[in-house]
Amino acid sequence: MKIRSFLSVALAGVMLFVVGCSKQSPKVAPAIPSDPQIEAQVKKIVSGMTLEEKIGQMCQITIGAIEDYRVRAEYKINKEALDKMIKEYKVGSFLNTPRDVGQNLSKWHEIIDQITTASINELHIPTLYGVDQIHGGTYTLGATLFPQGINMGASFNRDLVREEAEISAYETRAAAIPWTFAPVLDLGRDPRWSRQWENFGEDPFVNAAMGVEAIRGFQSDDPNHVDGAHVAACLKHYMGYGVPTSGKDRTPSHITDAERREKFFAPYLATIRAGALSVMVNSGNNNGIPFHASYKYLTKWLKEDLNWDGLIVTDWADIQNLFTRDHVAASRKEAIKMAINAGIDMSMDPYNPDFCTLLKELVNEGEVPMSRIDDAASRCIRLKLRLGLFEKPIVDGDVDYSRYGCDEFAAKALLAAEEGEVLLKNENDLLPLAVGKKVLVCGPNANTIRGLNGGWSYTWQGKRADELGAQYNTILEAMQREFGEANVTYAEGVRYIEQANWFDEYTDDKMLQEAVNAARRADVVMVCVGENSYCETPGNLTELALSANQQELVKALAKVGKPIVLVLNEGRPRIIREIEPLCAAVIDIFLPGNYGGDALARLVSGKANFSAKMPISYPRHEQSITTYDYKPCEQTDVMEGAYNYDAVVSQQWAFGYGLSYTTYRYSRLTVDKSTFGPADVLTFSVDVTNTGKVAGKEPVLLFASDLVATSTPDNRRLRAFDKVALQPGETKTVTFKLPATDLAFVDDCGRWVLEAGDFRFQAGDQTLTVTCSETRHFDTPNI
Ligand code: BGC
Repeated sequence: MKIRSFLSVALAGVMLFVVGCSKQSPKVAPAIPSDPQIEAQVKKIVSGMTLEEKIGQMCQITIGAIEDYRVRAEYKINKEALDKMIKEYKVGSFLNTPRDVGQNLSKWHEIIDQITTASINELHIPTLYGVDQIHGGTYTLGATLFPQGINMGASFNRDLVREEAEISAYETRAAAIPWTFAPVLDLGRDPRWSRQWENFGEDPFVNAAMGVEAIRGFQSDDPNHVDGAHVAACLKHYMGYGVPTSGKDRTPSHITDAERREKFFAPYLATIRAGALSVMVNSGNNNGIPFHASYKYLTKWLKEDLNWDGLIVTDWADIQNLFTRDHVAASRKEAIKMAINAGIDMSMDPYNPDFCTLLKELVNEGEVPMSRIDDAASRCIRLKLRLGLFEKPIVDGDVDYSRYGCDEFAAKALLAAEEGEVLLKNENDLLPLAVGKKVLVCGPNANTIRGLNGGWSYTWQGKRADELGAQYNTILEAMQREFGEANVTYAEGVRYIEQANWFDEYTDDKMLQEAVNAARRADVVMVCVGENSYCETPGNLTELALSANQQELVKALAKVGKPIVLVLNEGRPRIIREIEPLCAAVIDIFLPGNYGGDALARLVSGKANFSAKMPISYPRHEQSITTYDYKPCEQTDVMEGAYNYDAVVSQQWAFGYGLSYTTYRYSRLTVDKSTFGPADVLTFSVDVTNTGKVAGKEPVLLFASDLVATSTPDNRRLRAFDKVALQPGETKTVTFKLPATDLAFVDDCGRWVLEAGDFRFQAGDQTLTVTCSETRHFDTPNI
């Protein structure tokens, strides 16, 4: 037997075992309540379709595959190529932006009109178009670009996440696009990973809470009837994508069963329950099993256990990857069989529609049951019905889209940027800076819109943001507006350069000397360092430390003796332990989007106040990477005090850390019961007082620690959060309701259990202990 076919037989065995050993869970209420009218329509449409038509609905092709390459000036659809896709292969869905660059509304209308007209004429079914609008209008020119997910996580502001999604939905639908590949719910738990910044940070609870708000914003409240101002969301990338063992994108992960249920699945569970209409699968594999071939994770966990009737789409070419990359299938055809039988409903192919031919053969050969095809096609049709595409397949004439790219949306994006930039250090109250101070702004991130936005901005890698976002203010421009041009000077010091290697930089003695000379003439030096834009595999790193050039720049500037404000503009925490002590102030602005420069200038001048907290743990050493919910034997010295113990993980800044221009006092942390049982809901309250001189907003975080458990408990877990606005001197009482089941964990046998014993809760410096009186095992896979 050839090695490949042996592997595929072995894998099929594993799959059968998984199917065979999985317990049939009791039917839960549908995650999305089914609408009898829609279901009747689904039945009627699907029963009238041929096998080819059903399979065509399951195929998604990229816009590049139907381009007319004879036209140079602009993207045009090649009529014959489109006809082939629709008439021959009956393709039901398209994706991506033409020529990898965002388009204006009229171009989108032209494209979608053409594809839709062809689909309706031939198939009597509208097409389903999808794009990656992951931080607002990535691919719709003139729309609003918000901060990336990591900043939205740092804001700890649920309302902002919902409002961003609402605006993004409206601006996406204005382009006649009904489907966005967002929100991104990977947990950013490994700072080496190149997509760390696309999600809401490392914590499962934050990702779940923000994900739910994003679903509300994208889809509004009724997933069965998504109107013309909203879109279908697509949760991605299901699941555990963010922790590749090597740190490199799309490489294997090794997640335990308990971690998967408790942490990686948590945001998907919450958002599916909130009505999410579709899911995109993680490209990678875990413990040897590619997610695209996993019946357990696709069918069992999502469709059966949650009774969810939404659509599962692959990531880019990932069925093919089962064959060519992962070697679990011996041919493309076998890969298709595996993925479809595992539960994939739509293949993002993205260039090759022979998926349709091969799948038809598989059905005729009895390798893929007709019931699977009917189910998948029904899910595709159901989504189109839920989106109202049969009535309004292109632009909804009843919706007023005149607010596209309006000032009100810009103001929201500015606010989101202000609430997502984290003040990490402010020695001797260097900040806010008084207007009139002479400021040198320098570094490779000082004068770039590309740096502010990161990847998925106008183009996939964000490389053209300076040209396409030229009307927005870089940090330098925003500082000049805020502090006066005469007061703000500029020196580059280090420059990013375009090379095959995305992280190439250039500097020389002259550039360094210019920066040093300029620093001598300034009162304060703001040095903006970090990363150039990237995403996915091109963003892979070999070292997490900030580049040597940039560290040298900071060291040279520090010798001048002027106070330094270090601005970190980065998608992941680059290690800076050697230069941090040289800087009086440090701000991590992450990837704050088009208004991130303005936000920074307003924060630095004190017009706005900092209110963000770290959504990730910032490592100090490359060999000491951890998350805040580490096991007790990995004590860190940031929150708990240093332990004289070999495994000490010393962090630069802890999850949840962040300063402001005011101070807060926490008092009177109380709970409504000192002992509780599994059916109880605990109500906590804590008073928070603004004890400083300026108004501020404080994210209030409630952590719990299970003090003794049969599986080593996490040091602590975030169980609730809220953000409160406080005037100087004002006190507010913040209340949290916590179902006791939230304190359960997954034991060694894969069962959820809440164990009797003590739990310590903490908010600010306040702690209290509550006792669980009874141990209870839960038989359901999701509680
Ligand atoms: C990415 C996805 C994205 C898809 C479609 C893939 O390479 O992993 O996040 O949605 O492309 O653009």
